[in-house]
Amino acid sequence: MSHLVAPSLLAADFANLEKDIKIVNTSMADWFHLDIMDGVFVPNISFGMPVIKAIKKHAQKPLDVHLMITDPHRYIKTFREAGADILTVHYEACTHLHSTLQEIRSNGMKAGISLNPHTPVYLLSEVLHEADMILVMSVNPGFGGQEFIEQSYEKIRKLKKMLDSSGSKALIEVDGGVGPGNAKALVEAGVNVLVAGNAVFSSQDPVNTIKELKNINK
Ligand code: DX5
Ligand code: ZN
Repeated sequence: MSHLVAPSLLAADFANLEKDIKIVNTSMADWFHLDIMDGVFVPNISFGMPVIKAIKKHAQKPLDVHLMITDPHRYIKTFREAGADILTVHYEACTHLHSTLQEIRSNGMKAGISLNPHTPVYLLSEVLHEADMILVMSVNPGFGGQEFIEQSYEKIRKLKKMLDSSGSKALIEVDGGVGPGNAKALVEAGVNVLVAGNAVFSSQDPVNTIKELKNINK
């Protein structure tokens, strides 16, 4: 399977979201990446259900919803109703991660686990079979436009080995400081889904930047 690209709307123009949604719809992008922050798990607050619902009306591609919120179990159904197709929770924010992953799947969504930069991949060994995707944070979550943490390559390689040896088919997603300059190396390290916020929406030509992120081997 060739890799997927998921532009993060955190870097979009919130006063003109429809324009940026259309950019993603008409581009080679695969998913919309939506960052939900509660001001508790991360220092920042982004947007919530009403905005997701509004995006869903216009989006012609799956919504990949990245929850940076404490105790996300409380809101699984609500995010499904708002339009989430893939729901990713943070390892660090869940007391009963196994149960949360099962609940996400039983609500008809793909279940993702996200790891902060300090969280080692081996902590996932008992729940890999309950996950459809592992999101490796390559910055500390909370803000767009941060510098990529180089250690993430090693972490992705370790995770890839772990998934292969366990027989898991979970996708590896990377998020934070990703752009045309490191996309190829990340895919070579084992990444299946590239998230990019500023690299796409701060570019002069977002559609073309998305194309560059897709066509890394051309
Ligand atoms: C950060 C978010 C990211 C963010 C990435 O906490 O999870 O999805 O939008 O932004 P860039 O690509 O600008 O680093
Ligand atoms: Zn994200």
